[in-house]
Amino acid sequence: MANKSKFQAIKGIRDLLPPETALWNHVEQTAHEVFATFNFGEIRVPIFEPTELFARSIGQDTDVIGKEMYTFDLHGSREIEKLLHKRSGNPFDHQRQLYELVQLLKSAWVNDRIDKSDANRLLIDELVSVNDLLYSALGAELAGGDLSESPEIQHLMQRAWCLAADLQLGHQVSLRPEATASVCRAYIEHGMQQLPQPVKLYYTGPMFRRERPQKGRYRQFYQIGAEVLGGSDAPPIDAELIEMLMTFFEKVALQGTTLHLNSIGHNAPNCRPAYVELLRAELTKVKNQLGPDSQRRIDTNPLRVLDSKVESEQAIIATLPHIADHLCAECAAHYAAVKQQLQLRGVIYRENWRLVRGLDYYMRTTFEITAQGLGSQNAVCGGGRYDGLVELLGGPPTKGIGFAIGEDRLILSLQEQAKSASEASRNQSLVTSRQSLHVYIAWMGQNTYATAVRAAKDLRQAGFSVELPPTEQKFGKALGQADKLGAKFALILGENEVTEGLWTLKTLDDGAQIKLPEPEIIEHLRTSLRA
Ligand code: HAM
Repeated sequence: MANKSKFQAIKGIRDLLPPETALWNHVEQTAHEVFATFNFGEIRVPIFEPTELFARSIGQDTDVIGKEMYTFDLHGSREIEKLLHKRSGNPFDHQRQLYELVQLLKSAWVNDRIDKSDANRLLIDELVSVNDLLYSALGAELAGGDLSESPEIQHLMQRAWCLAADLQLGHQVSLRPEATASVCRAYIEHGMQQLPQPVKLYYTGPMFRRERPQKGRYRQFYQIGAEVLGGSDAPPIDAELIEMLMTFFEKVALQGTTLHLNSIGHNAPNCRPAYVELLRAELTKVKNQLGPDSQRRIDTNPLRVLDSKVESEQAIIATLPHIADHLCAECAAHYAAVKQQLQLRGVIYRENWRLVRGLDYYMRTTFEITAQGLGSQNAVCGGGRYDGLVELLGGPPTKGIGFAIGEDRLILSLQEQAKSASEASRNQSLVTSRQSLHVYIAWMGQNTYATAVRAAKDLRQAGFSVELPPTEQKFGKALGQADKLGAKFALILGENEVTEGLWTLKTLDDGAQIKLPEPEIIEHLRTSLRA
């Protein structure tokens, strides 16, 4: 019997439904508009990329790379792997196994299920020759027998095994946990350093991290991000990027945001590394009072201890040295200038010396924006400077800075805001007006249907949202339906309306009803909806 159990979305991955999706669209549309005014262009990067791209950019020791990526083998050469795994450590002891491998490899090559590198091509060619040699050495009549006794055969088997062991089978790819690495990869791949610098790009779309799901934390989540690549690291670039971000939050009417700002210096010995060593020494002194995660981080990445939310560690962390007091002269000057540039733009920030960020590529300016109504996952955006990342990925020395907004969290915060009484009217209209139905066409009589279709078309072309029921309904029922759908107006079209050319428009809020000549309907709706 067929299994009829219901399907459910995978844990931590969710559907987004109307009317909420209208708010998502509004937020994304606002991003397009605001970012365009700062002369950013949209880039769309792939959903998956070589695992190595993310590992090298974000850092092997980070949580994202260490445990949160969804990784798979691009070529799916599992059958070949299985066969080799079975033999692992041993030469082939049966000619049939080599024959089977050669067949699998030939078909994998044709079907693009193995990395088509030159090295693999040479190895496969040679395996084919060894297999042929075996056949001719043995004679066709012996093929398939146990031939392990013959030294010549054993030698060929041994050779085949060595060749097979050198095959590059896996081509690991991962679902993107973020997009900065991809944007840098694209910058290099498309020679964007030849364009006028800096290149200003933004993106929207899903990201994937295998985190423990909770409110505001999902395994598929959405980001709206922007990156400035190339040109200089002049502080106005940092400040203008942050100004754009805050303008965007203002435009979507997000309230209660706090911009946290820090500089984590750079990698020169007299800057961050010296501070990290100082921090390590201080932390070692109090190691016994720290939890297991922080104890481990003393060795792996002492900066991340500053991120700790463990209650009992807070008093200890408060006594640790601040990075701002240990920056090199250039980084200190850069940080001071960024703050000055933010003031110039009227951007309010709060310095937060504990803001270190969880990805390895950052240097100098780092920032995060927190918002209300999000519980513990209250960072609605994170970003910072990452000079050197493009170079690390094989490109020319390039400056870079960017941010990513967590769209899921932004929407949650806007919705929480809309729930609070004082903001209700303003934000509720944001949440619903985009989705609201303007006109429900209540039509009766087969002769009126053609008019109703034409009316729907004209109204939609004029930009109104229109619901046209496909079958005739009594007016009472139709108006009830219009009410349920939250329509603002019902356009009533009966035989009389059509013959007289005077259409009836009912305002569903107060039940007021007027008759208007057809050409005046659109203008009347426009005026009423604007009011
Ligand atoms: P991030 O801090 O890892 O930075 O992520 C940015 C934002 O994405 C976070 O502040 C949060 O709002 C949201 N976010 C992260 N993980 C989740 C999750 N599991 N569920 C829901 N929302 C989440 C980056 O991704 C960097 N690429 C930002 C950047 C761009 N830096 C420079 N350029």
